[in-house]
Amino acid sequence: MAFLMKLCTRQVFSRFTEPACLSLRLSISSSVLMRPGSFNDLEIAKSRVSTLSNDPGNEAKLRLYGLFKQATIGKCSSKKPGMMDFVGRAKWDAWNNLGDMTQAAAIDQYCQYVDLLTSLDTGSQSSSTDLAQYKEIVVTDNNGVRTIMLNRPAKYNAITYQMYSEVQHALEEAAKIDSIVVAMLTGAGNYYCSGNDLSNFTNIPPEGPQKLAAQAKEVLREFVSCFIQFPKVLVAAVNGPAVGISVTTLALCDLVYASENASFHTPFMNLGQSPEACSSVLFPRIMGPAKANEVLLGGRKLTSAEALERGLLTSVFPAKTFSNNVKDLVTSIAELPPKSLMKSKQLLRNVDRDLLEKANKDECDLLEERWLSDECMQAIMAFMQRKK
Ligand code: COA
Repeated sequence: MAFLMKLCTRQVFSRFTEPACLSLRLSISSSVLMRPGSFNDLEIAKSRVSTLSNDPGNEAKLRLYGLFKQATIGKCSSKKPGMMDFVGRAKWDAWNNLGDMTQAAAIDQYCQYVDLLTSLDTGSQSSSTDLAQYKEIVVTDNNGVRTIMLNRPAKYNAITYQMYSEVQHALEEAAKIDSIVVAMLTGAGNYYCSGNDLSNFTNIPPEGPQKLAAQAKEVLREFVSCFIQFPKVLVAAVNGPAVGISVTTLALCDLVYASENASFHTPFMNLGQSPEACSSVLFPRIMGPAKANEVLLGGRKLTSAEALERGLLTSVFPAKTFSNNVKDLVTSIAELPPKSLMKSKQLLRNVDRDLLEKANKDECDLLEERWLSDECMQAIMAFMQRKK
């Protein structure tokens, strides 16, 4: 097995470090060539990958591989390799999961990811991490636990594009830092999170709402994929009310602790939207279809006690002792043998990793369409104007 992993590593790594500029230049589409400098950026980023002093790990290499193929060739149209071709299948998945991402977006993401890998590549990993880089979340590392706190309490921690990107970055870093065993999400103030910041929809670019919807879809798909792929134990500490995506992502966490005064609300239909974060698969599995439909379609808000009874939560604690209760539990988990935890977590996730990525893609496709609908636009206008 070790031999197989080494082989995978070498094969995957060599595919995106080998010099292939000429063939790349030929296969790159005109839409990318129209963006001056973007191919240069890709070439520069590619050359930086080969200077990494530490092996970034198979997951990172697969991500780079997929983005590189998408950037240079476009959407994956090749046939999935056969059952026994493990390496080929992993690479095909990494590429195919990028769906309709544009070549220009793939170049951007490839470059950003190389930046992240480079920033994590020096000396002791934890000391190279700049926790002050985060603006709308607060990240702290303590006793093997990385706490990621959404930090816009005045807006009930509604998630902006900046926050999507920062949470994703914080999780990707946590995955790579050896000393971190558990990542824990929580919210500042009284709310856990009021879901997607609805003003994300109001900043329409000159290219029109279609462009906005396409970008938002990609942000969401990547964000959810990061939860699906997170290799370590992921805990949610739901300190107060949770709305929308902060509820649906709970089903992708390994342990969910809630304060007794939390609540769980997915008002997707009121907003002319549709379920996300794999809740279309995981909520019926967790609660049974009838109860899941009540939440996802009917928009029924659950109390902590109800969410516990329906299997969405691990435990509920009194509001006064919540943070201490969670701290004790999470610290004790972080003291368990880390490799065993990580490998076991991955064993559990591997059961339905492909299914979840497919659900994520299907949900995002539908949302892109919904975001452009009259139903959704009117609901967002109504929210924005409700106080006027
Ligand atoms: N997006 C953007 N801003 C949000 C927000 C969101 N999802 N949720 C809350 N806020 C902001 C409000 O605009 C308000 O800001 P302001 O004081 O500058 O006007 C502040 O957070 C407090 O919210 P407010 O509505 O005044 O508090 P409330 O107690 O009356 O209601 C909620 C709280 C969460 C029920 C209500 O804000 C709400 O319905 N938010 C939208 C939730 C949502 O639909 N999320 C998306 C799900 S898919």
